Amino acid sequence: MTLSSTAAATSLPETYDPLNEQVKQNPYPYYAMMRASEPVKYLPHMDTYAVATYEGVDKVLKDHKSFSSQHFWPELLGEYDPVPEVPPMISMDPPNHMHLRKLANKAFMPSKVAALEDRARAIATELVEGLVAKYGNEGEFDWVWEFTALYPVTVICEVLGVPTERRAEFKVWVDDLLGAANRHAYGPERLAEIRKHSDELRQFFEELYDLRKQDPQDDLISTFITAEVNGETMSRLEVLQMATLLLIGGVETTTNLLGCTMVELRRHPDIYARVQADHSLIPPLLEETLRFNPVVQMLFRHTIEDTELCGVKIPKGKAVMPLLGSANRDASKYANADVFDIDRKPEAPMMSFGQGPHFCLGSFLARMEARVALEVVFSRLEKVEPIAEADEVVWLDSYFARGPHTLPVRFKAR
Ligand code: HEM
Repeated sequence: MTLSSTAAATSLPETYDPLNEQVKQNPYPYYAMMRASEPVKYLPHMDTYAVATYEGVDKVLKDHKSFSSQHFWPELLGEYDPVPEVPPMISMDPPNHMHLRKLANKAFMPSKVAALEDRARAIATELVEGLVAKYGNEGEFDWVWEFTALYPVTVICEVLGVPTERRAEFKVWVDDLLGAANRHAYGPERLAEIRKHSDELRQFFEELYDLRKQDPQDDLISTFITAEVNGETMSRLEVLQMATLLLIGGVETTTNLLGCTMVELRRHPDIYARVQADHSLIPPLLEETLRFNPVVQMLFRHTIEDTELCGVKIPKGKAVMPLLGSANRDASKYANADVFDIDRKPEAPMMSFGQGPHFCLGSFLARMEARVALEVVFSRLEKVEPIAEADEVVWLDSYFARGPHTLPVRFKAR
């Protein structure tokens, strides 16, 4: 069946509209159409140019002289940015961006991440044991709400140095801050709540900064306060903004990676059986999930000058949306790109963590967290399987973030 006959039967839009409910549930057929016939597509209702091919996305992410990141943060958080005085590095262009990047890199090197593995394992184990204690040796729980949404936020609390007794409050603030991305859809009551929690988060980081400045500990806030590259350090506001960026960048993304992985396991029982039997297949499983159904579907840039991309002229100052989810399915880079294949050999670097100067700083941490979580789950649980068919999963109501909104699973402990 062609997309247009499907569209006629189910009232799907004929062309890509990221705001459309049904497109959000499954954008991939639209990406394929664009790659084939319109690699750079102007979306008049968003006044944005969507970029669908691998080549186009790669160019946008690497060519920071033509495509700026400066609008990224203001678009995401708007007036709810807890630290509006300074931009985070994700919203800065080189060369200024390099100053913060070099300082922050120190905290995310593979050796630092490896040192966190035992704590991540202890946190995942505590969560799974909590579920077995609550539901018994066999039963049902929600993979998203009772496991994956709690795990990365707890790891990041640990990493940042948030005291255990403040973690419940902290989770509420983080959830609300992430909600600010959908602020245009909210009424005054919800917006007032987000304002309050954004202020409380700021206040909390201010206090933590003061404590760690006086008495540095083995945590990330202390590392940021003391980190020095070529005699330069981070200002107080830069540290506060960096902490906020890590929350936005590192919490929901890892949650969604674990959600998307479980959906693929439901879709492929053969792969599920192989991974259960051989945990060394967890890393390739995660890599293929990241490629096939990336949790960050797109990024945001704007043109610094009149530009041409894949033969399309884009005027200065226009918003550009490189579609990572589409680039990862580009058949010119990946053989059988629409097939989920954990035995795939690296063909081209995937776009899921971005490319170029802003390449995800937390990629090692995210991969370690997700691997450890699945190792713990598969070791403790003999079976864990979503109840709904993979095709019935309800995805988040977002065109930016990809992950199941909820995922009830049946489990049996060993
Ligand atoms: C599956 C998990 C994750 C995915 C898919 C992901 C994806 C991305 C992407 C696509 C970018 C590029 C943004 C751009 O080019 O504008 C990015 C940047 C970034 N990510 Fe991640 N991320 C993940 C986890 C994390 C974690 C765990 C952290 C840290 C706690 C983190 C921190 C950051 C930071 C700080 C940046 C900005 C880097 C810069 O501007 O130089 N991310 N991430």
